[in-house]
Amino acid sequence: MTGEFVLVTGASGYIGSHVVFALLEAGINVLAMENSTSTESGSLKKLQETSDKKLQICRCNLLNNEEISSIFKQFPISTVIHLAASKGVSQSMSSPLACYSNNLLSTINLITAMKQYKVFNMIFSSSCAVYGDQSQLPVNETAQSHSPTNVYAKSKKFVEEMLSDIAKADKEFKFIIFRYFNPVGAHESNLIGEDPSKLQVSLLTLMCNVALGRKEKITIFGNCIRDYIHVMDIAEAHTVALKKFQDNFNFKVINLGSSRGTSLLELIQIFENVNNVKIPYEIKEKREGEIEAIVADTNLAENELGWKARRNIESMCRDSDFASQEIHYETNINESDENIDSNLNYNDFQNQQNNIGPLDNFNNGEYEIPKHFSYHKIIDQRITYND
Ligand SMILES: NC(=O)c1ccc[n+]([C@@H]2O[C@H](COP(=O)([O-])OP(=O)(O)OC[C@H]3O[C@@H](n4cnc5c(N)ncnc54)[C@H](O)[C@@H]3O)[C@@H](O)[C@H]2O)c1
Repeated sequence: MTGEFVLVTGASGYIGSHVVFALLEAGINVLAMENSTSTESGSLKKLQETSDKKLQICRCNLLNNEEISSIFKQFPISTVIHLAASKGVSQSMSSPLACYSNNLLSTINLITAMKQYKVFNMIFSSSCAVYGDQSQLPVNETAQSHSPTNVYAKSKKFVEEMLSDIAKADKEFKFIIFRYFNPVGAHESNLIGEDPSKLQVSLLTLMCNVALGRKEKITIFGNCIRDYIHVMDIAEAHTVALKKFQDNFNFKVINLGSSRGTSLLELIQIFENVNNVKIPYEIKEKREGEIEAIVADTNLAENELGWKARRNIESMCRDSDFASQEIHYETNINESDENIDSNLNYNDFQNQQNNIGPLDNFNNGEYEIPKHFSYHKIIDQRITYND
């Protein structure tokens, strides 16, 4: 793969930035695609400054075929990791057309360009939401009664089916479909993490907002059980999976979870203990369509990839955005708009304000600097910048 790039779409997003980090750590050349209509690029720029030219950033809206073509023309690409998508559950219900357009068309456009430029390997980010309600837990990849409960989940299911059909008809393609369970936390350095100003953030990021006094409390809808997985475990699975493309296969669906169920109330308690904070919450009735419990069977990931989640729930809470928000962001979040969708850990802030900027005081004494080439450099730059 020397000289070739792994193209990561949605690279400046929450999971994308962690995947880019993991690939760079594994010494892989990364072409990080960010949406040409978006303004989020801070984490990628930081990673680029420290990556010894292994990271190239390109801007492209996957709904624009000319922009896609110009990227495939310019760069030698071996594999595509396709994370770009609209992931808002409530938005998908109120504007299904926007969700289907983005999630289906962007994938169709991408695959069309891949075929044209003879790039045949893809990892696609799907979700445990495609399982819907399952009576048999933990759920494995062969579970039959898939009944996604919202438009977002259906869009993932449709793309999975489309890729399966393409793989059957065109044997050159190899697709690995990762069904993520509930990614939370942040890179151990806390230098990248979930952007707390986004409309959909995980429950841990919401708790961080409360812990930092930016929100009064969180609201949960039913004490549902979820399979939380550290975002770095998810990210590392992608680097491991790249080796799989040497094997003879066309289509694989693999769960990425921790195989451990944790209730929302348990999660709040663990977060409180680990971070020594109090998180006021209110609990409301489970909403219609909300899945009661979902936990992954991850035997396939272990057998096929030799991958297993390594980090426990305590590290997820410790490596949450708690510290990084304190360092990097000053947020202003409208308290009355909080509304957690515990089904996917997406919340439905409706009028959250995008009011983010670096804090003036970076208290470097408070944070242990991990011994790692890339974030050492990043922290050095941050200190310089903030001074
Ligand atoms: N975060 C989760 O809890 C979770 C769970 C299961 C699956 N997933 C899936 O993982 C993927 C990444 O999720 P995330 O949490 O990082 O989301 P995110 O919203 O943080 O990032 C998504 C990125 O995709 C980009 N994007 C969207 N439409 C695009 C387009 N047309 N062209 C180019 N870029 C576009 C956005 O600008 C953004 O940077 C998504 O496919 C999501 O559905 C996420």
